[in-house]
Amino acid sequence: METVEYRNGDIVPAIGFGTSHAGDEDDVVRVVTDALQSGYRLIDSAKMYGNEAEVGKAVRESDIPREDIFVTTKLRKEDLGYESAFTAYESSIKELGLDYADLYLIHWPTNDSSRNDSWRAIVEMQADGRIPHIGVSNFTVDHLEELKTVSDVVPEVNQIELHPYIWEEQRAIVEYCQKNGIIVQAYSPLLRGGALDDQTVGSIAGLHHKTPAQVLLRWVVQHGAVPLPKTTKPERMKQNIDIYDFELTEEHMASLDGLTNGQRFAADPHNIA
Ligand SMILES: NC(=O)c1ccc[n+]([C@@H]2O[C@H](COP(=O)([O-])OP(=O)(O)OC[C@H]3O[C@@H](n4cnc5c(N)ncnc54)[C@H](OP(=O)(O)O)[C@@H]3O)[C@@H](O)[C@H]2O)c1
Repeated sequence: METVEYRNGDIVPAIGFGTSHAGDEDDVVRVVTDALQSGYRLIDSAKMYGNEAEVGKAVRESDIPREDIFVTTKLRKEDLGYESAFTAYESSIKELGLDYADLYLIHWPTNDSSRNDSWRAIVEMQADGRIPHIGVSNFTVDHLEELKTVSDVVPEVNQIELHPYIWEEQRAIVEYCQKNGIIVQAYSPLLRGGALDDQTVGSIAGLHHKTPAQVLLRWVVQHGAVPLPKTTKPERMKQNIDIYDFELTEEHMASLDGLTNGQRFAADPHNIA
């Protein structure tokens, strides 16, 4: 599996597994267990998904050593703030039943200083050894530039929506992150399934004897980002991780980039209230 190197030298898989809307409690334990068995080692959770307990249970009960699994969770909007960030992180790891989350992200920015106050708290928690890796999600270039006035510590990760339908909108933030040494994680890389029937995606998939999902995930990888596909089905888990034996040509990348039509799953963080 391809990997990404974090600033401290940690080597982490270049593909992760999404857990949002992965089902009810028993389903989530089963789904994450299957994902680990299928080879995923980066598991993306969040307080907001209400599944930290189940994700943690699957991680604890697996026979894979804890240090070989990379668990992400996120500070939800309601808990933004300096003091509340400390309390929220403690609550998340308690819920996970783990000593630490490998990566802690600010889930969404708000249109006030609480995102910056949260960042100061998260930086402190990394400095005192509580959290190995820290970052943000849904941050725009302006949000990231403002963070520089709050702390010298630049986020290690920015997790953003990324698929061909919003490439033109996201190109600037992807390039900014890459210039500033921030790893881009791509959420909703299949547009929650909404890009799988696209004709261009389908015809490129046919040429490579791959599925539309594999082409969309490969497109993310070739843009230098880490895709986080979610599926509840073991055969799709294996399919989604099997994307390293083919390469999209420049022409195919350009055709996929050209699919931009503004369709997105989540709100545009430029318009946060
Ligand atoms: N930071 C944020 O604000 C944020 C926002 C959204 C999502 N996320 C993270 O990103 C993860 C992924 O995004 P997402 O869940 O929105 O959507 P996604 O991964 O783009 O798409 C998931 C959908 O695609 C289907 N699917 C998956 N693999 C498939 C395949 N090979 N063939 C056909 N269909 C397939 C799944 O159905 P089945 O399950 O039935 O297979 C599911 O309906 C989330 O789970 C979450 O961890 C983060």
